[in-house]
Amino acid sequence: MKKTNIIDLHCCSSFCYLLFLLVSVFVSLCSCDEHYASSHGGLTDKEVSYIKQRQLLYYRDEFGDRGENVTVDPSLVFENPRLRNAYIALQAWKKAILSDPFNLTADWVGSEVCDYTGVYCAPALDNKRIKTVAGIDLNHGDIAGYLPEELGLLTDLALFHINSNRFCGTVPHKFIKLKLMFELDLSNNRFAGKFPEVILKLPLLKFLDLRFNEFEGTVPKELFDKDLDAIFINHNRFRFNLPDNFGNSPVSVIVLANNKFHGCVPASLGNMTSLEEIILMNNGFRSCLPEQIGGLRNMTVFDVSFNELMGTLPEQIGGMVSLEQLNVAHNMLSGKIPASICRLPKLENFTFSYNFFTGEPPVCLGLRAFDDRRNCLPARPLQRSAAQCRSFLSRPVDCNSFRCAPFVPSLPSPPPPSPPPVVVLSPPPPSPVFIPQSPPPPPPPPVYSPPPPSPPPPPPPPVYSPPPPPPSATATSNRSIIRFTSTATFLLILSRISL
Ligand SMILES: *[C@@H]1O[C@H](CO)[C@@H](O)[C@H](O)[C@H]1NC(C)=O
Ligand SMILES: *[C@@H]1O[C@H](CO)[C@@H](O)[C@H](O)[C@H]1NC(C)=O
Ligand SMILES: *[C@@H]1O[C@H](CO)[C@@H](O)[C@H](O)[C@H]1NC(C)=O
Ligand SMILES: *[C@@H]1O[C@H](CO)[C@@H](O)[C@H](O)[C@H]1NC(C)=O
Ligand SMILES: *[C@@H]1O[C@H](CO)[C@@H](O)[C@H](O)[C@H]1NC(C)=O
Ligand SMILES: *[C@@H]1O[C@H](CO)[C@@H](O)[C@H](O)[C@H]1NC(C)=O
Repeated sequence: MKKTNIIDLHCCSSFCYLLFLLVSVFVSLCSCDEHYASSHGGLTDKEVSYIKQRQLLYYRDEFGDRGENVTVDPSLVFENPRLRNAYIALQAWKKAILSDPFNLTADWVGSEVCDYTGVYCAPALDNKRIKTVAGIDLNHGDIAGYLPEELGLLTDLALFHINSNRFCGTVPHKFIKLKLMFELDLSNNRFAGKFPEVILKLPLLKFLDLRFNEFEGTVPKELFDKDLDAIFINHNRFRFNLPDNFGNSPVSVIVLANNKFHGCVPASLGNMTSLEEIILMNNGFRSCLPEQIGGLRNMTVFDVSFNELMGTLPEQIGGMVSLEQLNVAHNMLSGKIPASICRLPKLENFTFSYNFFTGEPPVCLGLRAFDDRRNCLPARPLQRSAAQCRSFLSRPVDCNSFRCAPFVPSLPSPPPPSPPPVVVLSPPPPSPVFIPQSPPPPPPPPVYSPPPPSPPPPPPPPVYSPPPPPPSATATSNRSIIRFTSTATFLLILSRISL
């Protein structure tokens, strides 16, 4: 058993409580479990001995991930060895749970793991005659705890949904054994540390949702070479330039909002022909908009608001024939709005406020919803001052100066672009409204799409605990979010997985 170093412990444990007692320092170390960190005062002897007991029971595996020792009562009978392994995994997890206000895991007792709340079984893909644990759904459980390395024993798991809980720590390296994982939803929890690279090694993963956590650092470029359908990594602390292979990603939805991405909006975006929704809002992107985006004919939602984009809106956006929502607000864009954009047949809402546009064709004023405030538009209400516009328009900028990687089209290239317009650089950016990173911001109301469907059975309303955090729905796509609601749906999903 590896000895646990106090300083090494970054979260989750009741051990933090002891740490508080001993060192009287608990603020940041224990932030992950406010339940324990916020209640304090004298510990009873019983509590102290419980904590000491717990220290003996968990251990760290060869990667430093925590696990819990589980002993299997020899009187228990299991249908097959995989269900026995599942029992060990789930019992370890239960030990790693410090708070379960809805008692979701209260019935996690005994060998019938398929009857446990939130656990779904299905015939094994490689042997239809045996039943295995294929899905876990504890969405909106408000559970506090961590993920023990024993979860790696759930080798038949295809869906793992723990959205809107208080899980913290990291994703165990043993997740590498979950080779059938198809949908991984860890959103709206308290995971921290680097991007969980083990995810890149899950060969069948299609749906990745890490939003509303505390992940930080860079995002591995390999993520964009993976055959994913949806990537949600918004509302974390990622700090990163999008790599040139960004355009290789076959996703239909990608949401990077509310991180600290910077650099260019990559021209390789033009390669992402399956893309339907992209939300880059509230990062630090600083470049012109690549005209190649005009070729994205399936795009319905394009949101690059709250960045530092410059130059004009490419005329080619008029080729995004499926576009419904276009938001370029709070940037430093200028020039005339191309009429072709406002003529897009499905465009419902075009928001371009807080830029420096100087021309707006009349067709734009006929859109169902638009916002043109705080630009430099003659004869429109609520524009910037003449002085502000003049000062901004006095400094030209060349889009090439951002040194963005050039586009190499995979399809016959579109007609050559018109010569780059002379663009103008602003003095300081028009104070972007920065949405704070912490404490966890309430997710903005879902504007573009309905919130994801709720998990199967709504738990009884708690009497004593605060309401669970709001569902982590920013803009999402119902097409790519294959939420399972019943074993039947779930089996359908399984049948789509080709081994
Ligand atoms: C827990 O398991 C680890 C690794 O399997 C082992 O080394 C350790 O002795 C066990 N601890 C207890 C208290 O059983
Ligand atoms: C959970 O179980 C505890 C202890 O048995 C009980 O007091 C509490 O009311 C239960 N909570 C819910 C939401 O059922
Ligand atoms: C676009 O895709 C093609 C072929 O898949 C590839 O060769 C090219 O490098 C990609 N372009 C960019 C800019 O990623
Ligand atoms: C674009 O959408 C159409 C209709 O939904 C679909 O048939 C087509 O495959 C999509 N194109 C790409 C490249 O995904
Ligand atoms: C249009 O989109 C903006 C930005 O997403 C949003 O704030 C606004 O409420 C939308 N307007 C309508 C009428 O939907
Ligand atoms: C997505 O949701 C909208 C509105 O709820 C619905 O009209 C549409 O059919 C859904 N699309 C798919 C592919 O499920």
